[in-house]
Amino acid sequence: MTTPAIQLPGRVFISADCDALFDDLASSLMSSAIKAVHDRGVFHLALSGGSTPEPFYMQLMIDPRWRIVPWERTHLWIVDERRVPESDPKSNFRMIRETLADHAPIPRRQVHPMAALADDAADLYQQELREVIAAPDQEGTLRPDPSFTPRLDFVLLGMGDDAHTASLFPGSDAVHEKVELVVVNEGRNVTPPPRVTMTFPLLNAARQVAILVTDQKKAATLRKVSDHLREAAADPVLYPITGIAPVEGGLAWYLDAAAAGVE
Ligand code: 6PG
Repeated sequence: MTTPAIQLPGRVFISADCDALFDDLASSLMSSAIKAVHDRGVFHLALSGGSTPEPFYMQLMIDPRWRIVPWERTHLWIVDERRVPESDPKSNFRMIRETLADHAPIPRRQVHPMAALADDAADLYQQELREVIAAPDQEGTLRPDPSFTPRLDFVLLGMGDDAHTASLFPGSDAVHEKVELVVVNEGRNVTPPPRVTMTFPLLNAARQVAILVTDQKKAATLRKVSDHLREAAADPVLYPITGIAPVEGGLAWYLDAAAAGVE
């Protein structure tokens, strides 16, 4: 397509329709998965909730081109969760399970929902991440390390109308987090219900981050973010999506023409 009207960090894929966009995204996810399994024997995938990725997850399950994703070697993580029971329509894991996890041949023990209602939900998930994606010691043996920041292989994020991503809302406590990998986020600046969310330190340690934004209703926010980044440094407190900057990994945006504001 022609030069995008917006400028964003990383690679930017723009497609006229969602089907073509989902193909680009699925192809990137598949490449990351194959490389991760080749290099390390396992693929750590973290998925977001919200309405935007739902049709993508369905396409990933239905289209025979993506059947070679090595699901048996995949660990499925959840980027953020609303503190509701899994049966609640607002549960991210419910949506991800119904559209993807119930259909992909991922062994059950490799599917990692958050214990959304537990008092120590964030600590439990952080511990689970460190145990499962254990740090190699000097001999190359994998073992849990209490200070280790695990590297997810592929993270799929969305963006809200207020430029939040994951459950990192503008002006909320979680956007200031520099140490913990997973936190509870709630209060005045968080759209209810309270959330449990991966933080910038964990998301930015990922090998590949993809941000999927579709629909005309996101165009104004995307434009605002792009204009801000053209003139100033990233401001994760005001525009949390600008805090996504993988330290040693790749960043790519997947936009449909309506969200990107191009013909
Ligand atoms: C969530 C998400 C969140 C989401 C955006 C976009 O649980 O709400 O993980 O960060 O990606 O809010 O949501 P939509 O796709 O519904 O617009």
